[in-house]
Amino acid sequence: MENPKAKHAASGSGQSEKKDGAGGPIILFFILGLLCSLVVGWIFVPESFYYTEEQPIDFSHAVHNELVDNGCQSCHFFRADGSYSGAPRLAQCIECHQEANSDDPDEIRFVEEFVKKGREVPWLVYSRQPACVFFSHAAHVKMGNIDCVTCHGHIGESDSLRPYQGNRISGYSRDIWGTHPLGIKRNPWDRMKMDDCAECHVEAGVSSGSVQTQRNGCLVCHH
Ligand code: HEC
Ligand code: HEC
Ligand code: HEC
Ligand code: HEC
Ligand code: HEC
Repeated sequence: MENPKAKHAASGSGQSEKKDGAGGPIILFFILGLLCSLVVGWIFVPESFYYTEEQPIDFSHAVHNELVDNGCQSCHFFRADGSYSGAPRLAQCIECHQEANSDDPDEIRFVEEFVKKGREVPWLVYSRQPACVFFSHAAHVKMGNIDCVTCHGHIGESDSLRPYQGNRISGYSRDIWGTHPLGIKRNPWDRMKMDDCAECHVEAGVSSGSVQTQRNGCLVCHH
């Protein structure tokens, strides 16, 4: 039963096609081929644009939120001049980590390789924007009253720091484009491209100068 069909398919490209309607298998092959290229084009090719790197030390927000007195601000705070401290420096850790408190291998490594040598931890910043972008936490957190979760997701409650992914070509963090292969966004923190900043600005009615189409609007977010 199978042999005649196989023959048709093999010789089906020429005249026999018209004779007996071998178009069926051809369409099937076409659809299979299309599906394969879509999978390659949408999933494997985009995946291959990114490299993955572990954070230098794993860190549990859940453990530390219980231990500190001042919540998130113990480690992420506004300086007197209104600028944002961002990723914590050793100074935020040292009072508790002169010696290891536990036998957790990450804590031991942190104390031995960083605290005792006075070296800052080279944290990888998931939300890092290109250098040409101006972003101010004061405008958003203090004036706009926007919650950290809206832009960053639930990192602040997590047990572990996920690996960082960077784009091999641009060098930018994957969090800007987002992890969905088609760029689909389900949560506000899934993506932070130029259009995502602008979308919220339009919704929130941020001063008209922020709208990209306005004259000089670009300079609101670009140096
Ligand atoms: C208020 C005190 C305190 C501060 C401030 C603090 N830690 Fe800790 N940290 C602890 C204690 C206590 C433990 C042990 C918890 C346990 O029993 O497992 C710990 C555990 C850890 C661990 C192992 C568990 C984990 O989180 O994966 C790491 C790594 C660590 N700390 C890094 C840091 C870094 C980096 C900073 C500064 C950004 C910091 N800690 C600031 C008290 C503190
Ligand atoms: C004991 C210090 C400590 C406390 C308290 C703390 N964090 Fe962190 N946080 C860290 C460290 C260390 C990192 C890793 C640096 C990084 O990823 O940039 C981090 C990273 C983050 C990041 C990722 C930034 C990025 O894009 O890479 C967010 C968001 C964040 N913290 C939010 C919070 C929130 C919200 C809270 C309070 C609920 C909080 N943190 C409390 C130490 C702390
Ligand atoms: C409106 C969106 C938004 C909100 C709200 C927001 N962030 Fe961010 N955050 C960003 C962006 C964008 C960056 C990257 C800035 C850059 O690279 O110039 C960032 C960077 C950071 C970093 C890394 C900074 C560094 O350079 O080391 C930390 C840590 C952080 N945010 C924590 C927080 C915390 C904690 C809150 C809540 C108090 C918060 N953010 C609220 C958008 C936001
Ligand atoms: C979730 C909503 C939201 C997102 C996302 C957001 N913004 Fe904003 N932004 C605001 C609001 C609200 C204000 C006005 C705060 C105020 O002054 O009351 C603001 C103000 C600003 C300002 C101050 C200038 C002005 O016109 O008032 C700059 C610059 C800015 N945003 C840049 C950015 C950039 C860059 C991004 C993306 C990386 C971004 N924002 C993402 C809501 C957002
Ligand atoms: C609301 C803030 C905002 C405004 C307004 C804005 N941009 Fe952007 N722009 C961004 C952010 C954030 C990025 C980085 C993320 C991305 O590539 O989407 C970016 C990236 C870019 C890039 C790519 C730079 C690179 O290194 O990859 C160009 C070019 C650019 N913007 C041009 C413009 C022009 C031209 C305007 C005015 C019509 C404008 N932008 C207005 C936020 C803004």
